[in-house]
Amino acid sequence: MMYSVLKALCAIPLLCSVAGSAKTSFALQQEETLDQWLEAEGTFALQAILDNIGPNGAKVRGAHAGIVVASPSKSNPDYFYTWTRDAALVFKQLVDTFIAGNYDLQDKIHEFITAQAELQTVSNPSGTLSTGGLGEPKFHVNQTAFTGDWGRPQHDGPPLRATAMITYAKWLVDNGHVDAARSIVWPVVQNDLAYVGQYWNSTGFDLWEEVKGSSFFTAIAQHRALVEGGNLARQLGVDCSQCESQAPQVLCFLQSFWSGTNIIANFGGDRSGLDTNSILGIIHNFDPEADCDDNTFQPCSSRALANHKRVTDSFRSIYPINSRIPSDQAVAVGRYAEDVYYGGQPWYLATFAAAEMLYNAIYQWNRTGEMSITDVSLPFFKGVYSSAQVGKYSASSRAFSDIMANVTKYADGYLNIARRYTPCSGALAEQFSKADGRPLSASDLTWSYAALLTAKERRNAIVPGPWGQKSAHDVPTTCSASPAPGRYQTATITGWPSTLTPVPTSPTPCPAPNRVKVTFQSITETKWGENIFIVGSVAELGSWNPEAATPLRADKYEDSCHMWYAQVDLPAGARVEYKYIRKSGDGKVVWESDPNRSYKIPKKCGVSSLTLKSSWR
Ligand SMILES: *[C@@H]1O[C@H](CO)[C@@H](O)[C@H](O)[C@H]1NC(C)=O
Ligand SMILES: *[C@@H]1O[C@H](CO)[C@@H](O)[C@H](O)[C@H]1NC(C)=O
Ligand SMILES: *[C@@H]1O[C@H](CO)[C@@H](O)[C@H](O)[C@H]1NC(C)=O
Ligand SMILES: *[C@@H]1O[C@H](CO)[C@@H](O)[C@H](O)[C@H]1NC(C)=O
Ligand SMILES: *[C@@H]1O[C@H](CO)[C@@H](O)[C@H](O)[C@H]1NC(C)=O
Repeated sequence: MMYSVLKALCAIPLLCSVAGSAKTSFALQQEETLDQWLEAEGTFALQAILDNIGPNGAKVRGAHAGIVVASPSKSNPDYFYTWTRDAALVFKQLVDTFIAGNYDLQDKIHEFITAQAELQTVSNPSGTLSTGGLGEPKFHVNQTAFTGDWGRPQHDGPPLRATAMITYAKWLVDNGHVDAARSIVWPVVQNDLAYVGQYWNSTGFDLWEEVKGSSFFTAIAQHRALVEGGNLARQLGVDCSQCESQAPQVLCFLQSFWSGTNIIANFGGDRSGLDTNSILGIIHNFDPEADCDDNTFQPCSSRALANHKRVTDSFRSIYPINSRIPSDQAVAVGRYAEDVYYGGQPWYLATFAAAEMLYNAIYQWNRTGEMSITDVSLPFFKGVYSSAQVGKYSASSRAFSDIMANVTKYADGYLNIARRYTPCSGALAEQFSKADGRPLSASDLTWSYAALLTAKERRNAIVPGPWGQKSAHDVPTTCSASPAPGRYQTATITGWPSTLTPVPTSPTPCPAPNRVKVTFQSITETKWGENIFIVGSVAELGSWNPEAATPLRADKYEDSCHMWYAQVDLPAGARVEYKYIRKSGDGKVVWESDPNRSYKIPKKCGVSSLTLKSSWR
């Protein structure tokens, strides 16, 4: 296509002026609001996650069923493996999405748990099931052991995985499937909890796989898993005595990571301790029913807020893209200031996490109706509200509502940073350049997409279920270290009963629309004379007849964003299959590669339009 002709024809003044100015990169999506971007990006992110899960994920052919591949990238860097940590965090989000009503995800959840039961039995360089093998950080995507050198063991995998599976087991219990929770899910969970009870007081590698020692992220995840494991065991009438005996000890140990002004992310290694490790741990242990408790580092606690400021401020001076940002506004966030991996760049998931923690805090202040500013948290509050003073503020006070508004704006700022440096295709890599924001390192990092989704939901006050913090925040007066020997038993899952299928409950509070306006976006670089069309399984998409395909528009096509798009009115509730096709001037048609794209148009109260982002394949 010819860009200058379209520019001359361009009917939207704002677009034309942007296209004509020096501001080339990322111009397009900046014209949408943050809400609009999050909506479209959220839809894209969920699909991008599924594309990275075996056996049918479009980008990870060959991966075993239920296996989450960290990224489709096979070189520079090679992330074509499954990490227990990443997979667990991703599935925690998918289970929450399932519980919120996306029932199509149930088979995936079953496949995940089945795959984890199998992985537990794969003997590997860390050991076998009963000799420490659960601490192995990563496996090949065909579920065989990875035997190369690596930072092992890593103790965060088992607690994170237990939490993901416990969340699903609790749904089973709540929906009358206690037997399935006890006989299918619990045996897998129990092995992971046995591991946590046995190894929480041993050193291992941190989540970045670099420091051997003790890590805040690992310890806080261990505490949560033991608490909710103990609660679930009581509901199921099974034993988790190590949950009861070890959880208070882990909480006691956890206190030692607090320096007085911030969290020390690791014991071991030679860094300042300021590390997104801590913010990731805090959002994992957010309990929507909790108060602003320091002991469990709840997001609205003084400790969490003080630490948030110290960690995020540590990136202000070291990234050129942050250099002109005033000190009361959000910045791009990486792992830790001393990072040299890929030259030490900001990460999408770190920047999303900085936003998410603040949305969690906002949720807690709003729920409890009060906000405390202490000596410890004062620097955080002064950063967003210059006249902040130590004190207790009730929801009816002026300061409370002003601070809520300022923190919301500040949190949105982090999402806007990530959004500014997300290409218009929607693809989220692992990192983006500290010099100019270009995506870097592994493409389509599954965890990046999960991090976008959790931040988006917390922003909308959609929160996960509680994990039991309310009865598990008392710290023993003296810390002791007497880990419990673990009992391990092979958990074999032969199948899942079909009776577990959720029964859609209450009628929607407002009538769902019958039609949905779907905007199809395809990022496709085209030559002069080429045009892009969409063709698919329904009449509105030409019933697979390329002659009857719907043309996409190119009036938003720019050098920095090869955007083709069309809006099509489609029946709500229908599953449509489709592909994009490219027609050249001489009438030749080129189809996208297999498989067909597939999307079920939601039939949901309030959903009358949506955007599907994609890139030519
Ligand atoms: C599993 O995958 C690895 C890495 O691709 C490969 O080396 C190995 O041969 C595969 N094993 C089996 C049993 O397929
Ligand atoms: C084990 O626990 C004790 C008591 O909390 C603590 O002092 C010690 O540092 C812990 N060691 C490790 C490696 O976790
Ligand atoms: C606070 O909670 C109320 C009801 O519980 C809700 O309607 C409102 O949107 C919440 N506000 C924020 C900022 O989360
Ligand atoms: C926060 O809110 C107040 C009152 O709405 C406003 O005047 C102020 O500029 C905001 N920002 C800071 C950094 O105080
Ligand atoms: C895509 O859909 C068409 C029409 O239903 C079908 O003929 C074709 O086999 C599908 N392709 C794949 C890879 O499933």
